Order: sequence, then structure tokens, then C-alpha cells
Amino acid sequence: MPSPEELQITVSAASLRTMRDEFQRFLMEYRFGLQEVETKISILREEFQEAHAYNPIEHVSSRVKTPDSLVAKVQRKGIEPDFASIRESITDIAGVRITCSFTTDAYRLFDLLTQQDDITVMSVKDYITAPKPSGYKSLHAIVAVPVFLSTGRVDVPVEVQFRTIAMDFWASLEHKIYYKYDRQVPEDLLAELRDAAGTAAELDQRMERLHREIRGAGTGSPLLG
Ligand code: GTP
Ligand code: MG
Repeated sequence: MPSPEELQITVSAASLRTMRDEFQRFLMEYRFGLQEVETKISILREEFQEAHAYNPIEHVSSRVKTPDSLVAKVQRKGIEPDFASIRESITDIAGVRITCSFTTDAYRLFDLLTQQDDITVMSVKDYITAPKPSGYKSLHAIVAVPVFLSTGRVDVPVEVQFRTIAMDFWASLEHKIYYKYDRQVPEDLLAELRDAAGTAAELDQRMERLHREIRGAGTGSPLLG
């Protein structure tokens, strides 16, 4: 006969397995949501290239939050650790980042995606028009996209970030600096980052103006015209 300790271990191993399976199933929905949004983006990209001989997208990346990072966020935000609460409160489990050539392209793609009639916009944060105090710029949308499972339809929230190459360059360096200094970045470095954000925004404006001039000299840009 197993001792009570051994019995305890057996029971918790089984329930751990159940929890792991439930967790994997929970995350799977977000992976499917991500795939749906990625498909929409690549259709827009291909069709745009075909119709307008112009590709407004430089780069697309996506990720599902790792279990570790999800658990950390649940603890940090004091969310009840059950799937219903997590589903309700954490809307960036699935995330897509679309890096565009120009600011106008970021807004245009935002419109093209959010106007699709199976997409529900849950929230929008326009940090391009109103940058964060850090200097961070990007256009964020939480959208719900339908996913059809054997058990029926689920609407999966996906965080979509639209930004330019310059904004992306800035954000990835800033992120690295925060990580390096464990979020305790010296004030002079913060000031320099804010300044660099201004320089990046200036570059965006200059490049877009140049692009407009070049396209304007030709057949005219469907995107910028
Ligand atoms: P989170 O709890 O971090 O998701 O923030 P939030 O719920 O207030 O949403 P917000 O729209 O402010 O930020 C969401 C995401 O945008 C982050 O996970 C980052 O990817 C990005 N982000 C926001 N602010 C900054 C910033 O100051 N610097 C960088 N590098 N990225 C940022
Ligand atoms: Mg986030």
C-alpha cells in the first residue's frame, strides 16, 4: 500500500497533467486567433502589391505569450488565476506587430483590418498621435477575431501594433535598455531616449515627404495620395 505521501504525489501529478492540458488548450485558441489575423494581413499585403504595385508592410511578427510571462502578468495585475478571469483581463496573450514603411501606411492598414466585418474592435490606443512620456510611438488595437473550433465559435482577442521602421527601431532599443538596467534606467539616458524618439519621428516625416514627392512625380500613390 502506498504511504499517504506517495498517494498525495500521484493525485497531484494527475491534476497537474489536467491543468497542463487545459492550459495548452487555452493557449491554442490564441494561436488560432493569431493565425487568422496573420492571414488577413498577408492577404492585404499581397493584394496591395498586386493592385497598387506597392507594399506598405515591411515586416510582420507575432507571438503567443509564454506561460511564464502570462503567469507573471496574472500575479503582477492581481488577477484571479482562473481561465475565465485571465481571458477577461489579459488581452495581449496573442500579439501581432506590423511594421510599415510610413506612418500613413500604419493608419491605412489599421483601417483596412479593423473595417473587416468579422473583426470587432475592443480598444484602440493611438500612441502615434499621443506618444507615451517615454517617447514610445505605435498604434495599438485590441481586436476580437472569430475562430471556429469543433466545440463552436470563440472570439479571440488579439493585440495588433502598427508602427513604422523608425518607431520599431526605437522601441526595440528602448526595450533592451530597460531590460539591461532592470527598469531602473538613469535619468540622462531616459532624456536621451526621449530625444532620440523625436529624431525618429523627424526621420519618419522626412522619408514620407520624400516618398510622396517621388510617387507624386509618377502615377500617384494610392496610399499617400
Ligand atoms: P502592458 O500591461 O505592458 O500590456 O501595457 P498596457 O496594457 O498598458 O498596454 P499598452 O498599450 O500601454 O502596451 C502594450 C505593449 O506595447 C507592451 O507590451 C509593449 O509591447 C508596447 N509598449 C508600450 N509602451 C512601451 C514603451 O514605453 N516602450 C516599449 N519599448 N514598448 C512599449
Ligand atoms: Mg502587453
